[in-house]
Amino acid sequence: MQSVVLCSTIMAAKKELKSTAVRPPVVAIMGHIDHGKSTLLDYIRKSNVVAGEAGGITQHISAYEVEHNGKKITFLDTPGHEAFAATRSRGASIADIAVLVVSAEDGVKAQTMGAFEFIQESKIPYVVAITKIDSPKADAERAKYSLVEKGIYLEGMGGSISFSEVSAKTGKNIDELLDTILLTAELENFEGDPSVPASGFVLESSMDSKKGISATLVIKNGTIKQGNVVVIQTAHAPVRLMENFGGQTIKEASFSSPVKVIGFDSLPEAGSEFQVFENKKDALQVIAKLKELKGSPKQHADSFVPSDMETIPLVIKADVAGSLDAIVHQINKFETSTAKYKIVSQGVGEITDGDVKTAGNTADAVIVGFHVKASRQAIDVAEKLGMEIKLFTIIYELTDFLEAALEKRRTRVTKEEEMGLMKVVRVFSWTNKGGVLGGKVQEGNIKINDSLAIIRRDVEIGRAVVKGLQRAKQEVTELKEGDECGMMISSKYEIAEGDRLKAIRKITI
Ligand code: GTP
Ligand code: MG
Repeated sequence: MQSVVLCSTIMAAKKELKSTAVRPPVVAIMGHIDHGKSTLLDYIRKSNVVAGEAGGITQHISAYEVEHNGKKITFLDTPGHEAFAATRSRGASIADIAVLVVSAEDGVKAQTMGAFEFIQESKIPYVVAITKIDSPKADAERAKYSLVEKGIYLEGMGGSISFSEVSAKTGKNIDELLDTILLTAELENFEGDPSVPASGFVLESSMDSKKGISATLVIKNGTIKQGNVVVIQTAHAPVRLMENFGGQTIKEASFSSPVKVIGFDSLPEAGSEFQVFENKKDALQVIAKLKELKGSPKQHADSFVPSDMETIPLVIKADVAGSLDAIVHQINKFETSTAKYKIVSQGVGEITDGDVKTAGNTADAVIVGFHVKASRQAIDVAEKLGMEIKLFTIIYELTDFLEAALEKRRTRVTKEEEMGLMKVVRVFSWTNKGGVLGGKVQEGNIKINDSLAIIRRDVEIGRAVVKGLQRAKQEVTELKEGDECGMMISSKYEIAEGDRLKAIRKITI
């Protein structure tokens, strides 16, 4: 069991079940923005998180365990803002059942259909909740017809999809909705084996300067205990500090509980699978195997940017990986025919001076943070370089700002042009800031201060800058096609023999 490679652990666990027990369902609440997902969950939990959310929008996915008629249900609140489509899809894959929330005021909207597509793609059963039926503007019949029109055939309306007409304000029919969820779970017969080490999915991960790296995990099988080791791809954490969804320290948890484990050595990706091991030796063995399979990790995998497109370097930091994914997803939609963002640095945690410097190599850069601060040094460096750091707590303000900034820069006539291509034949010396290498110019020309796109196996892995050039042991300022040369380079990405370097120059017309 312990040697099973991570990606197949859950399937394997299913086949090898020995002492099975009924597993509570993991339920994702999905639907259009503002249709009442958080309020519904809030009523179910009888506490109040909705008021505490900035702008009333769910900014992070959260998981909760509730009990109804003595049976447990795990709920995932999947945010409704369009920018969270990326994490919403993960909500569906982690979940066993979805609740498609549709407001009785509005009926089906764009994101209702988006959520429905995700549900269909992930092939999980779902029930419909028509919400806000207490509202004077509510028209449950119209909302139901809007579903049927889209091919979502409800019970009694030509189909068999269960639905409840609920109010999260008065609590009307919420018991009925929970009964329906439990009935659906019973029919599906979800099972787990508490005797095996836990496996499941990462819901979110975050980095905190005091606590370190933590991940919220949804257990889909087995049991996790203090003293175990959690492996998520190549990241791992010894289970010393583990919390339940309410933030209380626990020693043990089983399916389908959400737990937070603190103390990972690197940031796990939201949506990936985790596997628990009984001891560190087994965990490290699996990680070593996985690293071997993967080869050396790429630092940057952005594709090469066409030369007639103005690219704006963007640094983006967020507090959790889920938000970061969602923002990046949104930014990718901004592209116009003349300008686009190129993310030069992204990550979880505060904005550091390193981030600012990365952006500072290229003028015109944009630096934004979501629910994070900028360090003192970062602010100082930005001031020196005349750059602005913008911090946000509301997602659409951030995306609006980026859209406006793109618009502003769109009219400029500075272009990046591809001027030459060189093949790296030898690397003479290398430090973490750059090095000296030798090669041959295959096309065009290369000049001092040109930016270099480092291409490895047809993928740009990062950028570097030409600091010095030599031809036949003579210092020169320019190289031409066919020249064999020595080159001094400043780069934080390590260049290897066989890489190709594309010389990029900014041309102002
Ligand atoms: P996002 O997380 O932004 O996608 O929104 P959401 O779907 O979680 O909606 P939320 O629960 O934040 O509710 C949106 C608004 O609808 C709030 O102003 C709620 O007070 C209101 N609302 C939610 N449920 C009900 C309900 O059952 N009745 C009435 N009258 N209002 C409701
Ligand atoms: Mg919400």
